[in-house]
Amino acid sequence: MDGVGYVYRRNGGDVQALDGVTGTIAAGEFVALVGPSGCGKSTLLRLAAGLLAPTSGRLVWRGEVTAPRTAMVFQDAGLFPWLSVRDNVALALESSGFSREAREARVTERLAQTGLLAAADVLPGELSGGQRQRVGIARALVTAPDLLLLDEPFSALDAQTRRVLEEELTRYWLTLRPATLYVTHNLTEAVRLADRVWIMTGAPGRLIDEQRTDIPRAERYTAAAGPAIAAVTERIWARIREGHR
Ligand SMILES: Nc1ncnc2c1ncn2[C@@H]1O[C@H](COP(=O)(O)OP(=O)(O)OP(=O)(O)O)[C@@H](O)[C@H]1O
Ligand SMILES: [Mg+2]
Repeated sequence: MDGVGYVYRRNGGDVQALDGVTGTIAAGEFVALVGPSGCGKSTLLRLAAGLLAPTSGRLVWRGEVTAPRTAMVFQDAGLFPWLSVRDNVALALESSGFSREAREARVTERLAQTGLLAAADVLPGELSGGQRQRVGIARALVTAPDLLLLDEPFSALDAQTRRVLEEELTRYWLTLRPATLYVTHNLTEAVRLADRVWIMTGAPGRLIDEQRTDIPRAERYTAAAGPAIAAVTERIWARIREGHR
């Protein structure tokens, strides 16, 4: 992202959602994005996905002004209620160019990995919120995207389910390691999941700082890592607070 700005044009006044956002996500890197409500996080994800075009600056993927192959996960999993779990996941591969057999094999593999095989023929309405979000993640990962974008995927879930899915996401992510941009309001979650945390302030949205997490992944879900995680979380919080002033 190279000096990216975005203005929503609307009747009664334009809204400058982002201004001069510059940052790079390396291959195989997990970046979390935190910042106050309305600061432009979702807008940045839409730009990264190529759903919006920047009104200033450019988005560069591997040296070219083009959008990578992305997959998005939203707060509500955004499943089609009339399709089974299997068909919701399979839909992501519809126009992938794979043969039907290859598609079915990939879908089955991803369902098994996300613990959904037993629920493959169930409709989303019969699932818990946590299971629905698992389907959303399975659907995003089945395409093996170059860039994985997640917009507060766990914020509608209770704390226990969130923690379970967080650890699961780390496990799936480690198998494919797509470049990842993960929006969350939960700073601890950001620190446990990410390699770096980008800190944004609002109106218009800018990146004001970043924090490296520098805690070995294998240790992040152990009690011993608690103080180190809390220390990074506090540093991020301090920067957000300064940003408000
Ligand atoms: N479709 C739209 N039309 C006009 N303005 C919009 C639109 N979507 C977002 N905005 C405005 O752009 C700004 C950034 O919104 P955005 O949704 O990106 O924030 P956010 O950081 O994701 O917030 P939250 O944490 O609440 O999800 C806000 O001022 C919002 O009102
Ligand atoms: Mg948002």
